[in-house]
Amino acid sequence: MGTIGIIGAMDEEVDVLRGEMEIKEVKSIANMKFYIGNIDSKGIVLVRCGIGKVNAAICAQILISELNVNAVINTGVAGAINDDLDVLDIVVSKDVLYHDFDVTGFGHKLGEIPRMERSIFSADYDLVEKAWDASKKTLEKHDAIKGRIVSGDIFVSDFKIKKSLLENFNADCTEMEGAAIGHTCYVNNIPFVIIRSMSDKADGSAHNNFNEFVQEAANNSKDIVKLMLK
Ligand code: ADE
Repeated sequence: MGTIGIIGAMDEEVDVLRGEMEIKEVKSIANMKFYIGNIDSKGIVLVRCGIGKVNAAICAQILISELNVNAVINTGVAGAINDDLDVLDIVVSKDVLYHDFDVTGFGHKLGEIPRMERSIFSADYDLVEKAWDASKKTLEKHDAIKGRIVSGDIFVSDFKIKKSLLENFNADCTEMEGAAIGHTCYVNNIPFVIIRSMSDKADGSAHNNFNEFVQEAANNSKDIVKLMLK
């Protein structure tokens, strides 16, 4: 598969993987540090992109155009939308889309990007299977599903917004980067997968749950990525 780009949005998500890495070189581009090296003799570039869609898209494009990665994995945490999901369960992306792209005033469906041939970006089948397999093997007490991830520049902590994400998009979970990474990979014809561990349930308790579970959730995602690379 060549070199794999691994993106996390926050230090919590990236530091655990960097600790497992043999770092050969560090490049600073666009305020981001790209760690180039290996995990278990697999070539990777690890980077913290920062929070939100624009940071994520900038980062994915640099990985592809300047650092020549052949695939992109995004790992981290998310808020659960599907009621069957518990904190620390895993969602592996079947597909991703934006929940805050709104051109409904021109008759487009919510989330639809006008004048683009698609607005829902499908993850790579093989990467999804590998991630799901690795999730099932890694998780002892928690579940993993293949599902839909919706992204927007919103930390969802309101039951009404959560409900709308289920009703409008049939989303399984929400976060703030995955669709931008999927979009960037799609226009560059690069395979991708998003792996998210649930840190909260995107409701009124989301802030508290996020703080309590973010590290454990990020750790689980790290273990899954490591097993996938093997
Ligand atoms: N990442 C983790 N939890 C989230 C939430 N509730 N909304 C958006 N991004 C998140």
